[in-house]
Amino acid sequence: MFAAHAQHTTNDTTFQRATTMSKYIGILTAGGDSPGLNAAIRGVGKALLGHYGMHVVGFRDGFRGLMENRTATLDGGQLSGILTVGGTILGTSRDKPHKMPVGGKILNMLDTIADNYRANRLDCLVCLGGGGTVKNALRLKQMGLNVITLPKTIDNDVAGTDVTFGFDTALGIATEAIDRLHSTAHSHHRIIVVEIMGHRAGWLALGAGIAGGADVILIPEIPYDVDSVAEAIRARARGGKPFSIVAVAEGAISKQDLAAIAAARAAGRKSAKQKDARKADDQEADAAELLYADRTLRLAKRLEALTGLEARVTILGHVQRGGAPSAADRLLATRLGTACADLIAKGTHGVMVAAKGEDTQPVRLEDVAGKVKTVPLKHSWIGSARRVGTNFGD
Ligand code: F6P
Repeated sequence: MFAAHAQHTTNDTTFQRATTMSKYIGILTAGGDSPGLNAAIRGVGKALLGHYGMHVVGFRDGFRGLMENRTATLDGGQLSGILTVGGTILGTSRDKPHKMPVGGKILNMLDTIADNYRANRLDCLVCLGGGGTVKNALRLKQMGLNVITLPKTIDNDVAGTDVTFGFDTALGIATEAIDRLHSTAHSHHRIIVVEIMGHRAGWLALGAGIAGGADVILIPEIPYDVDSVAEAIRARARGGKPFSIVAVAEGAISKQDLAAIAAARAAGRKSAKQKDARKADDQEADAAELLYADRTLRLAKRLEALTGLEARVTILGHVQRGGAPSAADRLLATRLGTACADLIAKGTHGVMVAAKGEDTQPVRLEDVAGKVKTVPLKHSWIGSARRVGTNFGD
């Protein structure tokens, strides 16, 4: 449906509007995609068009589409039938306005973006995205543009909001995966290490780990000791359960790796002082490699060696971001999207529309940008998990 519509994409919104005084609103989706983006586009768009009589224009592929002035008509028809559809009908990218690859170079395209905003005579730009998008929207705000963001990401790590849309869907997918892994782990008397997305925050691994009854949950907020994890698994085996599920966030890190990284960084700084720049670079690279390389595979191998049980790895990856949004995400995205339209109608901008309990609330972009909502160590989910015997490797 959208592909057919795309043929009618125009760049001439400037000329279409002269006859009306109503507002023109741009909308784009940026960063990694997330279930619920289309529900949010629909919520914002339908409320602006139908309820407030404004005009809406989409920009393709995040900030890149705005920089290249690639627009998509969103005049009603395109907003129907998308509530349940995964991904984003507008396309997305991780391009940053101030550091964009253009013609083989990385360029600051903020001025071009501001020019296109004005060329389209936008009164406000709605940016659907996570923490990175808030930072980019703030840059546009500082250029004098009117912007509003809506918080999306399966990681649920955006500061200032109770929850982000996409999280609930991914939670369901990861939980179902753990359920399925349980029966095979049990049948084969194996350890199954399941890697769940979340490089800075462990909300998804923690939530799915609890809901799926994982025996061990490892999250970035709690550096783990492999021996502690192995002992928890051995204790289960001694108690007659020679199988275990380890739910590990992609950003979880062992105490041993943390120490190795700190040592490599310190050595790098020392080499830099000695003006041995190449050695310093090498040592920094080693540190970075330790941070990102094969951590989950290494963990599984180590657990196999320490417990004598066979271990297998399942990396859920982008499966967690795909497919139809859950009912809760459709509801949240619609609440945030329509609240965004209400704020635009009141002339409010420069904010992120946050979910607060049953309500929504505008939060200044300055109060969100650069912050990451990690799992507090005293969070009740961690307490509950510990009380049912879950090991966190600490
Ligand atoms: O931020 C959402 C997220 O899915 C993270 O959980 C993950 O680390 C990252 O995006 C993956 O990004 P990409 O899709 O660009 O590989």
